[in-house]
Amino acid sequence: MKKIIITGGAGFIGSHVVRRFVNTYPGYQIINLDNLTYAGNLANLRDIETQPNYRFVKGDITDAPFIDSLFASEQPDAIIHLAAESHVDRSISDPIDFVLTNVVGTVVLLNAARNYWQGAYDTHRFYHVSTDEVYGALGDTGMFTEDTKYDPHSPYSASKASSDHFVRAYHDTYGIDTVISNCSNNYGSHHFPEKLIPLAINNIKNNKPVPVYGKGENVRDWLWVEDHARAIDVIFHRAAAGETYNIGGHNEWKNIDLIGLLCSIMDRKLGRPAGESAQLITFVKDRAGHDLRYAIDATKLKRELGWKPSLQFEEGLEKTVDWYLANEEWLQDVTSGHYQQYYEEQYASR
Ligand SMILES: NC(=O)c1ccc[n+]([C@@H]2O[C@H](COP(=O)([O-])OP(=O)(O)OC[C@H]3O[C@@H](n4cnc5c(N)ncnc54)[C@H](O)[C@@H]3O)[C@@H](O)[C@H]2O)c1
Repeated sequence: MKKIIITGGAGFIGSHVVRRFVNTYPGYQIINLDNLTYAGNLANLRDIETQPNYRFVKGDITDAPFIDSLFASEQPDAIIHLAAESHVDRSISDPIDFVLTNVVGTVVLLNAARNYWQGAYDTHRFYHVSTDEVYGALGDTGMFTEDTKYDPHSPYSASKASSDHFVRAYHDTYGIDTVISNCSNNYGSHHFPEKLIPLAINNIKNNKPVPVYGKGENVRDWLWVEDHARAIDVIFHRAAAGETYNIGGHNEWKNIDLIGLLCSIMDRKLGRPAGESAQLITFVKDRAGHDLRYAIDATKLKRELGWKPSLQFEEGLEKTVDWYLANEEWLQDVTSGHYQQYYEEQYASR
């Protein structure tokens, strides 16, 4: 029996990781530790919340006394750490929260692991989920490998880079069994509609302008979120201590081409004439310090652990659009902030 604390399990990627572990490993106990910020939504986990091997704990990873007491009472065998402030635009307007959650929160968890695992590191594991943005930006060619020098540009990527360094430092200094993965942009169901794809789907559906930064020339490598969750599963179980793996889709798209594809899928799904949704595309002032291109070389993960993406992008995007169109209520709740108000009332009294 393994007891795993998954942090950030109410968020986009975290909810897919929690679902995968709860369903795939009935013999594990999964504790979802999440502070339910604006990005955390327990409705993401309705389908598994009554499973006997799942529990939710509301808590802040920057609260050291709370994290210490959680480790003392639960004695987890492993941490899979996804909790983070994750939106680059928010990091540009308010960097401090990113330092607190992404850097300080990670160190609080590492410290608790160091104190409570007491040197028994061969039977415990700290898995840190990170991003390809730590590597900075690429020109027209090349790809990020695990050996690419860190060169973060936004407060978000700087905070993630810093947390990666702390994770390695705790491995090198104290011998904690750590693993890190750096993944490209994810897309799929349950994604908060401030990010490009769900925002565009929601705006197209509601006939609202679809904002595209600059001329839409920025290139991102897109991976279906369930493929990311599967990669985390494989790496968690099979990577050697201290290892790092890049995870990516070998699937590069210019933002403007991606939005064009999305518009044509939405025209078809909504019964609109071809080209109608594309008229909603609105170019807006570019994001400060906007990285031109990210591309991940995930060869090491394929070669050593046999993982590769399962879905073609067009198929994944269709599935994603179908999910958003079929889950009107989820989208309404998230965009109206209803669920947050509910949690504030629900947890204020505890
Ligand atoms: N979204 C992507 O494309 C992407 C790509 C690569 C890596 N990542 C990384 O994956 C992880 C998850 O990303 P996501 O897109 O699911 O993020 P998200 O913003 O959807 O979810 C983050 C979750 O963390 C929780 N959280 C935030 N601050 C907390 C705190 N102080 N204490 C406890 N919980 C807190 C939130 O409530 C939310 O549920 C992050 O570490 C991110 O850096 C994301």
